[in-house]
Amino acid sequence: MTLQGTQRAMRRLAKGRLLLLAAALLGIATVACEKGTYSVDLFPEMHYNQSFKYGEPPRLSPPEDAVPVTGKAPALTPAEAAAARNPVARTASTVAHARETYRVNCAMCHGDLGKGDGAVGAILVRDGYLAPPNLTAAATQAKADGELYNTITNGVVVMPKFGKLLPDSDRWELVLLLRELARQ
Ligand code: HEC
Repeated sequence: MTLQGTQRAMRRLAKGRLLLLAAALLGIATVACEKGTYSVDLFPEMHYNQSFKYGEPPRLSPPEDAVPVTGKAPALTPAEAAAARNPVARTASTVAHARETYRVNCAMCHGDLGKGDGAVGAILVRDGYLAPPNLTAAATQAKADGELYNTITNGVVVMPKFGKLLPDSDRWELVLLLRELARQ
């Protein structure tokens, strides 16, 4: 082989190596630049399994009728609230269910029949808070169903936000019950 032939062969070899190096760098960059999980999962092992990690307490599945507490409570805009119709029909069973929901969640403040005379209400007044209103009075009853639903969903001052505590249908049922209590 001549000297020139050897030089040409060496140049070809150098070009091939450069190309290989560029390809390797590109590959590393692709794998490394991905945020979070790796774009190319070379060794997934047990990383994504539903397994206990070191030091974690046991994970229990939620009870079947649990209410999710993450995410936004479905509150209505003022315009929607004014126009909303109660999606729950007034039947003996929905009213009875609402009475039970009310007894457990509301009666201690608003009173057994919604007159604003619950035992906790008296404590609120003693401590300088506003008294829970009489929900059967004209001031409350004049409000639209959607407005009452929003108050129950979002709470007011010391009144809890029931959007995170009761399912949607229970809160609409309570609106039904507030109308019912005013009739009694
Ligand atoms: C810790 C006591 C407490 C509990 C529990 C509570 N409330 Fe209230 N609620 C209040 C108080 C106090 C107000 C008045 C707040 C204000 O206007 O500053 C109020 C206001 C309201 C209003 C607004 C009335 C109006 O005229 O705008 C509605 C409707 C209502 N409550 C329904 C309920 C229902 C239904 C429940 C049960 C799911 C409930 N509340 C549970 C204390 C309570």
